[in-house]
Amino acid sequence: MDSLEQLVASAVQDFMAAQDDAAALENAKAKYLGKTGQITELMKGLGKLDPEARKAQGALINAAKGQIEAALTARRDALAEAQMQTRLNAEAIDVSLPGRGRAGGGLHPVMRTWERVEAIFRSIGFEVADGPEIENDWTNFTALNSPENHPARSMQDTFYIEGDDSTGKPLLLRTHTSPMQVRYARSHTPPIKVIAPGRTYRVDSDATHSPMFHQVEGLWIAESISFADLKGVYLNFVKAFFETDDLQVRFRPSYFPFTEPSAEIDIAFGSGPLKGRWLEISGSGQVHPSVVRNFGLDPEKYIGFAFGSGLERLTMLRYGVSDLRLFYEGDLRFLKQFN
Ligand code: PHE
Repeated sequence: MDSLEQLVASAVQDFMAAQDDAAALENAKAKYLGKTGQITELMKGLGKLDPEARKAQGALINAAKGQIEAALTARRDALAEAQMQTRLNAEAIDVSLPGRGRAGGGLHPVMRTWERVEAIFRSIGFEVADGPEIENDWTNFTALNSPENHPARSMQDTFYIEGDDSTGKPLLLRTHTSPMQVRYARSHTPPIKVIAPGRTYRVDSDATHSPMFHQVEGLWIAESISFADLKGVYLNFVKAFFETDDLQVRFRPSYFPFTEPSAEIDIAFGSGPLKGRWLEISGSGQVHPSVVRNFGLDPEKYIGFAFGSGLERLTMLRYGVSDLRLFYEGDLRFLKQFN
């Protein structure tokens, strides 16, 4: 091997030896191609040769220089490529890592009841209406035959909201869904056949009362809707809701200012843990003539019934829950059992 070939070979070796640090490669480059590098020195030596030999030797040196430069470029590229790879590896995101998992949500048991009640009443031709939880005094009380200072109002103490309705009376959180009777009847023409489920509020808190709870209002007004229709509709509803024919319904005389006559609806299951016990689930009655008048209708012509049932109560009976507060503690051990 002549000395030029050796020079090229040793340059290639030096370049290969230079590892990921760029300075090492530049040093190796200087050793051959720098101002005092070996190739440069050989070039300088050409001057001493005669023209013929200079030409021949010059060509050989240039070829060797070309090879060294090519080796240098190749090594540079290889090192840059390797460096890039290292960086990419370090920054890589492992897309195969399992995710955090999606927590499976579920419907709250009271919402299940809500949806179930809607489905059952829709199936027998009732509309479903929605209304405001912040009510005015007239719609929540006065229009429903509870004038100011009437003792019946004290049955429903509630939360008041700053600000007032147009007559200067404070706004309040509705104490029942019954104001929806008024709102719906005043904005629709008979026959009126509607339920209005929603949130209601009272200053009450114990194992069977929560300051926020849910009711479903029912209202059927036409020219000849009687208490018999209320019995038929409600019996059909509870049988469908509890998925059993093995239950009895009874109407116990009661008092509400907005119905006359009024009744509490009780049910008793024919089997199961609550067998034979009368359980109160709803207020009801024939809509009072002066309330029909407040609907904007002629009580001589229109008549019908209303009921208001507690959704928590229905839920507790359906699933055997004994303490209402469980619905609002957000305890997943409790809530998971319904999904
Ligand atoms: N609004 C009454 C209550 O909350 C229930 C009810 C509704 C009674 C409709 C009669 C008719 O207690």
